[in-house]
Amino acid sequence: MSDDVTTRVIAIDGPAGTGKSSVTSLLAHRVGARQLDTGAMYRAATLAVLNAGVALDDPAAVADVVERAEISLDGAVTLLDGVDVSRDIRTDAVTEAVSAVSAVPAVRTKLVAVQRREAEGEFVVVEGRDIGTVVFPDADLKVYLTASPEARATRRHRQNLAAGRDSDYADVLAGVNRRDHLDSTRAVSPLRPADDAVLVDTSDLTLEQVLDTLDGLVRDRIGVQS
Ligand code: DC
Repeated sequence: MSDDVTTRVIAIDGPAGTGKSSVTSLLAHRVGARQLDTGAMYRAATLAVLNAGVALDDPAAVADVVERAEISLDGAVTLLDGVDVSRDIRTDAVTEAVSAVSAVPAVRTKLVAVQRREAEGEFVVVEGRDIGTVVFPDADLKVYLTASPEARATRRHRQNLAAGRDSDYADVLAGVNRRDHLDSTRAVSPLRPADDAVLVDTSDLTLEQVLDTLDGLVRDRIGVQS
């Protein structure tokens, strides 16, 4: 970042199912950076809202719950009020509700502040939807991962089956399209690539190929030897 010599940020944005999470954690490991999964933070906020039992269509009540929640990340572990909720934030209930919660402006304001604080003075690989556009507009490298809805639904469907969860491909594809629509049309921080982001289409790439592509970009752009 130009105004802080000790903070270095690699922003990885894009919709769900592009391999973002796997690539982020592997890349962070390779380049010796800390990983920040901002989607996990929005999920933790959503879990807090569901636990509180407030209506999802009441933005003031949602904002109030999230304002009082303490959300932090410790590597791949997500903490809500000091409790490890890494598994609880991956349930269908949270996945269904997260778009509504993350569309509330006060929720975004709070979590963006937490994200900036967590990155301060660190070398971080940050994954999300608005990292290159809003959270770290001066990021050292911005990557936007894309993939066709079908490729993304296939990945999610296989992950579900591998995890022993019931899964119907058509339902998964419909969910992917629904979330894309909500995330890219919301008023605050809609999902879109930053003007200076490098677009990488992962539809026909293996995880290893995506990782090698990003690895090359990191070496070229910020000179980190990975
Ligand atoms: O990456 P994920 O699928 O775990 O993200 C969960 C949700 O959180 C997703 O529907 C969009 C939202 N999100 C967001 O609005 N902004 C971010 N920076 C990260 C995620």
